Order: sequence, then structure tokens, then C-alpha cells
Amino acid sequence: MSNDQQIEGLSLEGKTAVVTGAAGGIGSVIAQDLARLGAQVVVCDIRVTSAYEVASNLPNASAVEIDLGDPGSVASAIGVIKENVGSVDVLVNNAGWDQVGPFLESDPAVWEKLVAINLKGPIQLTHGLLPDMVEAGWGRLIFISSDAARVGSSGEAVYSACKGGIMAFAKTLARETARSGITSNTVCPGPSDTPLLREISEGNPKLVESLKRAIPIGRLGEPKDISGLVSYLCSPRAAYITGQTISVSGGLTMA
Ligand SMILES: NC(=O)c1ccc[n+]([C@@H]2O[C@H](COP(=O)([O-])OP(=O)(O)OC[C@H]3O[C@@H](n4cnc5c(N)ncnc54)[C@H](O)[C@@H]3O)[C@@H](O)[C@H]2O)c1
Repeated sequence: MSNDQQIEGLSLEGKTAVVTGAAGGIGSVIAQDLARLGAQVVVCDIRVTSAYEVASNLPNASAVEIDLGDPGSVASAIGVIKENVGSVDVLVNNAGWDQVGPFLESDPAVWEKLVAINLKGPIQLTHGLLPDMVEAGWGRLIFISSDAARVGSSGEAVYSACKGGIMAFAKTLARETARSGITSNTVCPGPSDTPLLREISEGNPKLVESLKRAIPIGRLGEPKDISGLVSYLCSPRAAYITGQTISVSGGLTMA
């Protein structure tokens, strides 16, 4: 008996999963883990070359270019996904983007970009892929938000607003789709060791050390810490968990 058969109901054999931002730190590990559970994975990212690289290392995976900040790009990605794999069973809205700085010094053009990528893009993609889940009577929606949405984060005002919006969106979809066999949950990473955090902490080497001191478990999160929970929430076994917001933060925030 292989390890993944020891607990029943974790397999995603026969399911199709779309993961956005899957060329990146957390998203690529989510894509790998869902593929290991048997899903056919569509690796979506604005960095299409890296997306192809990730997909080429997975069994039964493909890559699709998407710019979540551009409604035309999201619409055409939805078309390509449907054409390539048919209906989608699992959607992990993972892609995100941030530019850190004091709110009073921020530029409205940057607000627009933050809202487009972190809020409107995932809403549009979900709107395009959800009808097939409803029709199939089974589906899993996962939204990667942030602890910034739950407890605030200095320098991330508009990003936090978007991540809070996505959390409320996920809960409402959980209510609207529960009778259709669909669950909708939000996962909030705490500070995690990925290119996004490295970019934010560039020029501020003390930031990571002070974060580690503040985190009860004493280290940054790793992509696999987040993807373990995401994999479980995507599995058939997690059918009775919906509308939840769960932090993966080494205890930095507690519910
Ligand atoms: N790393 C952290 O500390 C942390 C903390 C809280 C929440 N998060 C969230 O976790 C998720 C994954 O972040 P990560 O740390 O892996 O970051 P990352 O920068 O490593 O990966 C993000 C991915 O999203 C892609 N992306 C960016 N803009 C896009 C766009 N317009 N359209 C499509 N794809 C786009 C990037 O190309 C990249 O591959 C994000 O939603 C982020 O907000 C991360």
C-alpha cells in the first residue's frame, strides 16, 4: 500500500486542477502536490516560460498564460483552459502581487494594479470556471489570502484590503454553492520564504530576523507548509469544511 492510500479520500485521480501563480514559490509546490495526488494540473502564470518549466516536470500537466490584472487575458485563459482540459474540478486562486510602502505615499495607479491582480482577476476567473463545477455537482475553490487581511500589515494597506475582500468572496461562494457539492475556503499564509517575501525584504535585512523572532515556531513558512493544507482542502475527504479561513503562520496569528 502506498502512503497516499493509507488515509482514504485524499486522491484527486480523475480531477482537473487549475493553479494560478503556479510558476511561483507557493503555487509551484501546490501544483506539484496536487499532481502527486493524481490531479491533471493546469499551471497558470503571467511568467509563461516558468509555467511551462513547472508543468514539464509534472505528470499530466499543461501551462496557460494568464495576466490576472488584464480582463482580456483572463477571458482568453478561461477559453484556453476549457478547450484544453474541459471542465475544471479544483481552482486554486494563488497568484498575488504587492508593492509595499506607507499608504499616504501610495499612488492610485498602484491601487488599481493591486485590486486588479489580487481581487478582480480571481473573481473573473472563478466566475468563468465555477459553472462547470456546479454542473458536475463537485468542486473545490481555494483562495490564497494573507494574514495581512486578518490582522493588518503596515505598508500593505491596499493589498490587505484586496486579501480581505477575497476572504469575504470565498465565504459568500461557500454559502451559494454548498448544495452543489462545492467547498470554498481561504488559506492565509504568514511570512513565507518565497520570491515575494525576498523582494519585500530587499534593503531591509533585519525584517526577516525580526519576523523569525516574532513567530512562535521560530522560522518562516515554507511553500510546503501551505500546500499541505491546500491539498487536504482540495481532497474529497475535506467535503464538510467550507467557508473557513485558516492561517498557516507558525502561530504568529492565532484565531
Ligand atoms: N510569501 C509570503 O510571505 C506570503 C504571505 C502571505 C500571503 N502570500 C500570498 O501567497 C500567494 C503566493 O505568493 P508567493 O509568496 O508564492 O509569491 P511569488 O511571487 O513567489 O509567486 C507569485 C506568482 O504569481 C505570479 N503572478 C504575479 N502577478 C501575476 C499576474 N498579474 N497574473 C498571473 N500571475 C501573476 C508570479 O509570476 C508568481 O509566479 C500570493 O497570493 C501572496 O499574496 C504570500
